[in-house]
Amino acid sequence: MITFKGPAEFGRMRQAGRVVAEVLSKVRQAAGPGVELRSLDRLAAEIVAERGCLPSFLNYHGYPAHICLSPNDTIVHGIPDTRRLREGDILSVDVGVIYEGWHGDAATTFGVGDISTEAQHLLEATEKALWAGIDQCRDGKRLGDVGHAISAVGDAAGLGVVQEYTGHGIGRQMHEEPQVLNYGEPGKGLRLKRGMAVCIEPMFNLGGRHTKVLDDGWTVVTADGSLSAHFEHTVAITASGPEVLTLP
Ligand code: MF3
Ligand code: CO
Repeated sequence: MITFKGPAEFGRMRQAGRVVAEVLSKVRQAAGPGVELRSLDRLAAEIVAERGCLPSFLNYHGYPAHICLSPNDTIVHGIPDTRRLREGDILSVDVGVIYEGWHGDAATTFGVGDISTEAQHLLEATEKALWAGIDQCRDGKRLGDVGHAISAVGDAAGLGVVQEYTGHGIGRQMHEEPQVLNYGEPGKGLRLKRGMAVCIEPMFNLGGRHTKVLDDGWTVVTADGSLSAHFEHTVAITASGPEVLTLP
């Protein structure tokens, strides 16, 4: 069921979103060569608790950590472990928190030290697609407009547009209806209305679009071993246009 929200609900989600943004920024600052992924998970857990929030990923369908850390060819749902970052890696960080019962969810991808120009191209195009998708989050637009705007950026950049994982509605739960595909036909699909909140989250690969899940049941990697990037924001659809809730 799609739930509709007003300024009060969006205000609470903005509080959650602010904490998500703070965690993303601090994890990014702390992520350098030699840093263990687990230590970034602990850092995130501390900030979330300090801000009076709950980490929404922990125990979600049994997920064993507070955030997702997805390096290099990991697309999403990487579990923070004892691996250490190295110069030239890229790292996707995905954070979700609950503040007074309301959710925020966002992700970003960045380089560790100097990265290849190909990797830089991947990051820039995936972030551009996020903002192209957000710009379609307007009353009267359709989900196909959002998906098409996202995939058009990936296609033009020569990247693999992941299809198996999607954006979603969000509010009192992390995953609500509707599902927000990263591809689609303009003018088709569900009509967006003010009062909806959605997570827009393109995942692009330097190589092909295909994915596989590792034996841990969580880690999603590119089938061809190519690098992958993921950017996400929680967005409110308001009478005056999209409002990004996961900003500092
Ligand atoms: N942030 C992811 C999403 O957007 C969810 C992470 S899955 C979890 O849908 F298991 F880690 F929670
Ligand atoms: Co999400």
